Amino acid sequence: MIVGFIGSGNMAAAMARGWARAERNSPTEMLFTDSGSGRATALAKEVGGRAVQGNDDLVRQSDFVILAVKPASLETVAKELPAPRAVLSLLGATPLEKLVSEFPDSTVIRLMPNLGVEVNRGVICMAEPEGIDQEIVTESKQLLESIARVHELPDESMDVATAVMGCSPAYFAVVAEALRSAGTHGGLGADVAIRLVSESLAGTAELLKHRTPFEIQTAVASPGGSTEAGLEALAAAGGADAFRAAYEASIARMRGD
Ligand SMILES: NC(=O)c1ccc[n+]([C@@H]2O[C@H](COP(=O)([O-])OP(=O)(O)OC[C@H]3O[C@@H](n4cnc5c(N)ncnc54)[C@H](OP(=O)(O)O)[C@@H]3O)[C@@H](O)[C@H]2O)c1
Repeated sequence: MIVGFIGSGNMAAAMARGWARAERNSPTEMLFTDSGSGRATALAKEVGGRAVQGNDDLVRQSDFVILAVKPASLETVAKELPAPRAVLSLLGATPLEKLVSEFPDSTVIRLMPNLGVEVNRGVICMAEPEGIDQEIVTESKQLLESIARVHELPDESMDVATAVMGCSPAYFAVVAEALRSAGTHGGLGADVAIRLVSESLAGTAELLKHRTPFEIQTAVASPGGSTEAGLEALAAAGGADAFRAAYEASIARMRGD
């Protein structure tokens, strides 16, 4: 299966790196284009793929085309292309109706990945129009499942999914950086501090498969203890409210408010 990326930026690179290290179900070849920065050549070199001159050439050589440009470039890019067999769009805040109108002769699937795909631990939400070629859906899922857990969602839920999952690695990184920085100020080495924080995040993610967020909080925070004091300080500083505000701001940006 030959996968062609139109756009070789952050998300294309993350997916390509994930596939380059996947043990099975990765593309047989990955092709890349950019708009002139040279990122396609650099990424192709890094992951063992091939940079292609021009999006039209890339489409002709690919079984699946991954649209990895910014949403504002959609119309310009679509206009210059022959109809791809299958288009997997990564574009934020771009509904299926719009994608299908730009690629009326292709099978179109809307995806929303997060950065974890780079280490084969991503989440990818997937929405597709009714009645599309199920063979392409199955092939797409096989490819995507080697870099992520894939969740099928209705198209109208994709923006909310973007705000809680597509954006959240950046939010969790803010938490990690705050705790790392506190730890190093307290005297831990920087390497030790970030390792302790990341292992704690990974363990908490595992716990969340078995316990609710509330159960985890109460299990850690015994009455009168240090975690309780920390949670009180976090609430007083607007901790949870700040994440709700981040969610609202992301949704507003997607809706163009
Ligand atoms: N970053 C994330 O975590 C994330 C998460 C979920 C979804 N997404 C979605 O993924 C898409 C890409 O995001 P990104 O963060 O990867 O953006 P990015 O780093 O800015 O990359 C965009 C890429 O598109 C290329 N490009 C622009 N016009 C082009 C054209 N006409 N032909 C070929 N390539 C062209 C750019 O080329 P140059 O290199 O020459 O500038 C660049 O390589 C967006 O729609 C975004 O909503 C991103």
